[in-house]
Amino acid sequence: MKLIVAVIRPEKLNDVLEALFKAEVRGLTVSRVQGHGGETERVETYRGTTVKMELHEKVRLEIAVSEAFVEPTVEAILRAGRTGEVGDGKVFVLPLERVYRIRTGETDAAAVTPIA
Ligand SMILES: Nc1ncnc2c1ncn2[C@@H]1O[C@H](COP(=O)(O)OP(=O)(O)OP(=O)(O)O)[C@@H](O)[C@H]1O
Ligand SMILES: [Mg+2]
Repeated sequence: MKLIVAVIRPEKLNDVLEALFKAEVRGLTVSRVQGHGGETERVETYRGTTVKMELHEKVRLEIAVSEAFVEPTVEAILRAGRTGEVGDGKVFVLPLERVYRIRTGETDAAAVTPIA
């Protein structure tokens, strides 16, 4: 199992959600976040040159998936989240040790796969 964490443009959220739905990915968490993607903006101050970190509004997706869904999930985010301009975001794939469904006590593969 993997935990896929993606930071995307807010205006791409609908496209990404649609692509994930088509890829039969179910179960995700969406948060509004602020982030910085490495761009530096130099600002002159009376003390000399300082570097200011601008924060941008982004959307963070967290998706726990079984192995078979890792590639389809990443592919859907890459394809639907891309504009080609700086700031499209990132996808992180993390090992996921354990998943529990609280209601049933099911674990792991049985717990990441939503019950129809
Ligand atoms: N190394 C990182 N760790 C955690 N979050 C990151 C990292 N890099 C980028 N992010 C998050 O992703 C958002 C978008 O980053 P961004 O698209 O600018 O990444 P990038 O690697 O600089 O790509 P680009 O060259 O397209 O700008 C950031 O605002 C931040 O929230
Ligand atoms: Mg950047």
